[in-house]
Amino acid sequence: MAVKDIMDALKAESLEDLGIQANLAQLVKDIKLVGKELSVVVGVDRPELQSAVRDRLQKALLKSGEVDKVNVKFTTAPPPKEHTHAPQQAPMGQPAFTKRGVPGVRNIILVGSGKGGVGKSTVSANLALSLAKLGFKVGLLDADIYGPSIPTLFGIKGERVEVNEQNKIIPKEKFGIKVLSIGLMLPSEDTPVIWRGPMLMKALTQFMFDVEWGELDYLILDLPPGTGDVQLTLAQNVKIDGAIVVTTPQDVALADVRKATSMFKEVDIPIVGVVENMAYFVCPESQKKYYIFGKGKTAVFATTYGLRVLGSIPIDPEVAEKSDEGDPIVVSEPDSETARVFTAIAKVVAEEVH
Ligand SMILES: Nc1ncnc2c1ncn2[C@@H]1O[C@H](COP(=O)(O)OP(=O)(O)OP(=O)(O)O)[C@@H](O)[C@H]1O
Ligand SMILES: [Mg+2]
Repeated sequence: MAVKDIMDALKAESLEDLGIQANLAQLVKDIKLVGKELSVVVGVDRPELQSAVRDRLQKALLKSGEVDKVNVKFTTAPPPKEHTHAPQQAPMGQPAFTKRGVPGVRNIILVGSGKGGVGKSTVSANLALSLAKLGFKVGLLDADIYGPSIPTLFGIKGERVEVNEQNKIIPKEKFGIKVLSIGLMLPSEDTPVIWRGPMLMKALTQFMFDVEWGELDYLILDLPPGTGDVQLTLAQNVKIDGAIVVTTPQDVALADVRKATSMFKEVDIPIVGVVENMAYFVCPESQKKYYIFGKGKTAVFATTYGLRVLGSIPIDPEVAEKSDEGDPIVVSEPDSETARVFTAIAKVVAEEVH
C-alpha cells in the first residue's frame, strides 16, 4: 500500500461528529511508511479531541490490513515550510523551481550514467567509503528507487530504518557512513515501486530533506540508469554541487554517457569528471594489464566533452564477489589496487568539490 492509498482512505473519514470540520486526511501534517509501520503527525489544536482522533485514525488504517502498526503524534504548529514546493515567478511561461540545499549537508554529489550496469552503485558505495576514510563525514543515498542495490552492497538487506520523535527518518549507519535506501523502507523486497510525477517528487524530496542526516561533508547519491524522472526531479529541486559520470570503455556505454553528460549540462549541474569502470584486467599470474574493452576510448570521449577522467577502475572479480557479500572492496581489501584507485578518485573529488 502506498502513502497515496492511505491518504485516499483517510479522505473518506469525516470528523464532523467530533465537531471538526475536516476529514482525517486534512489533519495529516506528515506521514511516513516504513515496512508495515506508519508514523503520522496530526494537527489537532484541542487536546481533548486528540484521543478520539487517534482512535479514528488507527481504526481506519488497521482496517485496511496493509499496516500493522500506527504511531500517532500530535502537533498544534503549522506544517514546516520546507514541505512546500511553491514555484517562484517563472519567466517566459517556463516552470521555475526552488532548488534547496539539505540543512547540515555541505556538498551533494550525484553519481550517474546513461547506461545500466556500468557500476554506478559500486562507484557510489566505494567512493562514499573512501571519502569517509579520508576523514570526511559522509552519507549515501540510494536514489535508485526502482532498483535499490545499496542495502545489498552494505550487507543491510532486510533491515528497516526508524523514524524519530520529529518524524524524521534515521539513516542506517554502516562502515562509518549514513545510508538510506527505499529498500530499507518497503514492506518487502518484492514490492514494486511505480512512482511517477508528483508522487516520485514527494518520495525523493522526502529522502533528501526529511532525514536526520546530521552534519555531513558529502552526501553521495546513487542514481538509477538513464536520464529520466529521477534525474530531472533532483536537478530541479535540489542544489547539487557536482555530478560524476560512470562509464565503461565500450562504445555502447559511451554513447549513453554522452546523453547523461548533455543532460547534466542542460540542467546546470557541474560535472566533476568521468570514472572509467572495468577499464582493464590485471592477470593475477603475470600482473600484466589487459585492456579488454579497448584502451583510450574514455579519455578521447572525456576530452571531446571537456571533462576530466577521475580514475580508471580495473575489472576485479573481488569487487563483484564482495559486493554480493555486503562487504565493499575498500573495506574488505583496503590494500588492493582497486581500493587504491578508489582512494585516489576520492582525493580528486574532495579537491574539486568542497
Ligand atoms: N570494477 C568491477 N569489477 C568487477 N565487477 C564489477 C565492477 N564494477 C561493477 N561490477 C559488478 O557489475 C555489476 C553491476 O554493477 P552496479 O550494480 O554497480 O552497476 P549500476 O550501474 O549501479 O547498475 P544499475 O544500472 O542496475 O543500477 C555488479 O554485479 C557489480 O558487482
Ligand atoms: Mg545501481
